[in-house]
Amino acid sequence: MAKDLPDEQPPYFNIDPEQALGDLGPATDTAGFAAIAEACARGRADLASRGMNEEGEKTLRLFSTWEITRYLIPVAQAHFRRVLKQNPDLPQGRSETEGGAKWFTLDEVLRLRAHFAEGGSKAKEYQPYRPDGVPAKLVAVANFKGGVGKTSTAAHLAMSAALDGYKVLVLDLDSQGSMTSIFGGRVEDEWKTVFPLLARHYASHLRAENQRRLDRNEAPIPLDDTLSEALEVTAKDLIQPTHWPNIDLIGAQLNLYWAEFQIPVWRMQARSWKLWDALTESLEADGVLDDYDIVFIDTPPALGYLTINGLAAADILLVPLGASFLEFDSTGRFFDMLHSTFASIEEGENMAARALGREELAFEWDAVRAVVTRYDSTQQAELAALMQAYLGRTLSPHRQDFTALIGQAGEQVSGIYEADYRDFNRETYARGRQTFDETYAAFKRLLLGVWRREERQADGQLL
Ligand SMILES: Nc1ncnc2c1ncn2[C@@H]1O[C@H](COP(=O)(O)OP(=O)(O)O)[C@@H](O)[C@H]1O
Ligand SMILES: [Mg+2]
Repeated sequence: MAKDLPDEQPPYFNIDPEQALGDLGPATDTAGFAAIAEACARGRADLASRGMNEEGEKTLRLFSTWEITRYLIPVAQAHFRRVLKQNPDLPQGRSETEGGAKWFTLDEVLRLRAHFAEGGSKAKEYQPYRPDGVPAKLVAVANFKGGVGKTSTAAHLAMSAALDGYKVLVLDLDSQGSMTSIFGGRVEDEWKTVFPLLARHYASHLRAENQRRLDRNEAPIPLDDTLSEALEVTAKDLIQPTHWPNIDLIGAQLNLYWAEFQIPVWRMQARSWKLWDALTESLEADGVLDDYDIVFIDTPPALGYLTINGLAAADILLVPLGASFLEFDSTGRFFDMLHSTFASIEEGENMAARALGREELAFEWDAVRAVVTRYDSTQQAELAALMQAYLGRTLSPHRQDFTALIGQAGEQVSGIYEADYRDFNRETYARGRQTFDETYAAFKRLLLGVWRREERQADGQLL
């Protein structure tokens, strides 16, 4: 063994302190950060001027007849062609070569789907299941560890749900804004993020609280400019369309992080403000839950106030983690933190509620699942089996494979569903797509189960 190693000493031996000092440069002060930021901004502008910016208008690729009939609408190719021929008003697609395969935009696919749903066999699932009269389901993807696949999982689920025919809203709570870039969002400042919805919720609470204060002859707490301005904002002002016809976005950018400082200040000012209800109640009040089928919430790698809001709003909670000792360990601690955080909120509320004989607060999630991501069956089978043994039903049965395509797809393309399958080896593409399709299928099973439970409850059936 030793013979294969180079003779040189390792690089951390014999470093000369004098020389190290010579290379060091002066200490950095606060202004130093501004200088670094400015250098980055200049570099970024340079890249952008060479056409390498990520923020160019995003466009979604086209879908071929093969892909539509294989993955999107359950009809045979021949029947699909026949129906198009019989209905010249339907989108006919376009081909790159004379007589070549026909390609369609997703918008056209959605119209075709609607046509088949209307006229086609009732036994086939042309439109995905959603019971009448039940609100959209909110799905949060969270884990306080970074790099576990939260954003990738949330983005792929949003895209597969959209391809499946659902109307999707994506909510980015991470001030790093990765989800926002994936969906080509433009967010000037915190006023185009969820921030004003949280501020509005607090401002409305404060107004009601001030009325009570006046009744008790106490001085009201003044509403500052931010709060007064927030009272005018609704979710509809924040929602932007994306390059996916049935995915909309409320984006994030760096200033959203300000909420982590602002929320505790508000809470100190008015202790009776239920900050954890802010997101849910604002979305509900603005009719968002009627306009969409599914709302996916991407969260930052921290259990801060934004994440707490996202988690409290969620009906379904997905916790991605890799099948490694470190991620299993830290995910265990994440659940421990979830327990203590929500238990302390409940405890704080319920002391008062019990004293006043009011209904007690008890958070509830329709389903909570840990999801193995970036799975390598040759290395991680044993650990994954152990995790399965300890977590049981809480661990989603499908393990999302490590898929090299995810990172490679390129700048204008995010993930497997945006990639053109002709750019890849057929096998590689099919395997990558299958693992994300199965991630979606496992999620959809939860969603349908949850909706069905609600539908039966609404019908007054016993569970
Ligand atoms: N199934 C996967 N296969 C391969 N790489 C993945 C997979 N899921 C995520 N990644 C990569 O892992 C990194 C972290 O993923 P990301 O979704 O940004 O994590 P988080 O949002 O938890 O920080 C990204 O570079 C992403 O491309
Ligand atoms: Mg992320």
